[in-house]
Amino acid sequence: TTVEWEAESYDMGGHDTYMHKEIHEQVDAVDRVLRGRIDDRFSTVRLGGLNLDAREARGVRRVKILGCGSAYHTGLIGAQLIEELARIPADAEPASEFRYRNPVVDPDTLYIAVSQSGETYDTLAAVQELKRKGARVLGVVNVVGSAIARETDGGVYVHAGPEVCVVSTKCFTNTAVAFALLALHLGRIRDLSVADGKRIIAGLRKLPEQIAEVLSGEEEIKKLAAEYANAKSMMFVGRVRGYPVAREASLKLKEVSYVHAEAYPASELKHGPLALIEPEVPTVAVLPDDDLLEKNRATLEEIKARSGRILAVAHREQEKADHTIVVPRNEVELDPILMGIPLQLLAYHTALALGRDIDKPRNLAKSVTVE
Ligand code: AGP
Repeated sequence: TTVEWEAESYDMGGHDTYMHKEIHEQVDAVDRVLRGRIDDRFSTVRLGGLNLDAREARGVRRVKILGCGSAYHTGLIGAQLIEELARIPADAEPASEFRYRNPVVDPDTLYIAVSQSGETYDTLAAVQELKRKGARVLGVVNVVGSAIARETDGGVYVHAGPEVCVVSTKCFTNTAVAFALLALHLGRIRDLSVADGKRIIAGLRKLPEQIAEVLSGEEEIKKLAAEYANAKSMMFVGRVRGYPVAREASLKLKEVSYVHAEAYPASELKHGPLALIEPEVPTVAVLPDDDLLEKNRATLEEIKARSGRILAVAHREQEKADHTIVVPRNEVELDPILMGIPLQLLAYHTALALGRDIDKPRNLAKSVTVE
């Protein structure tokens, strides 16, 4: 299979850039991360390489997720999924910070290292420090047999296939799905009901088709990108499930288009960043149709009152926004997975409109294997 991957991965398959190819590969990639793992009999998932039995899973009192860049952002999504589905307190931290602060390592905490390449030095160093202190560390990794995959006690492979573009897209999405699988698995060992297990499984199965639906709106997103490409800076906001999506979308835009962007929890705007809002600084608002929608709409009003332009990513047209990208509905817990995808296209088309070197943005390397 290694040979097959290599042949496929370096063929552009009719796309002009690897980034474009990889964005469009997400339909198949998500199908692959799900394949063979769903267990309908018990409304759960089987994760062969986890190396964590049911008794150990029940003994976990906290989850700490570590990664860098986009991998860290998937960790933010993963922590929310684990808290929601398994009711285990969970959080994510940049691995690069964690390793330098002499962390208190707790035997009842499950540590999870996330990495596309499995070679990021800061993440590997965090794993090694944790192992040295006797912690149990799992990996959520894309590259099979990579350093982080080897040094962790077990884990979940992401199966996104080779990602060539420096900017992560399909691996980000697949990692978020891998976290949903892990959260469901832990949840069903603990207190998640059969009905909720079934509901999440049905949602996961819908994802490939819904991703295809989002990608079919590319022309529209291309037009929006042209409209917003000359912004002085972009503000990305979201609450709870929308927030990690805003963080990732802001990073994506910066990396590939060099347009300056900030990301904040929507509720934090009034504590300072609102001062930046003006017509030349548009806001991208991630607005899932969850119980925070009304609060989010109030934030849109605050932005409008400062003459800010708004591009919403939502499940239905938002009248307060100047434009809305409508994303199909799924189960609320899975919203971050789907809502990030149109914003990958926005970053891509902004970079294209500005004539950037999309697959090799300046100053960046695909994996940072040095300190
Ligand atoms: C992704 O678009 C970035 N290029 C970068 O943030 C990346 O996610 C980070 O360097 C971590 O890489 P890894 O997943 O290979 O560990």
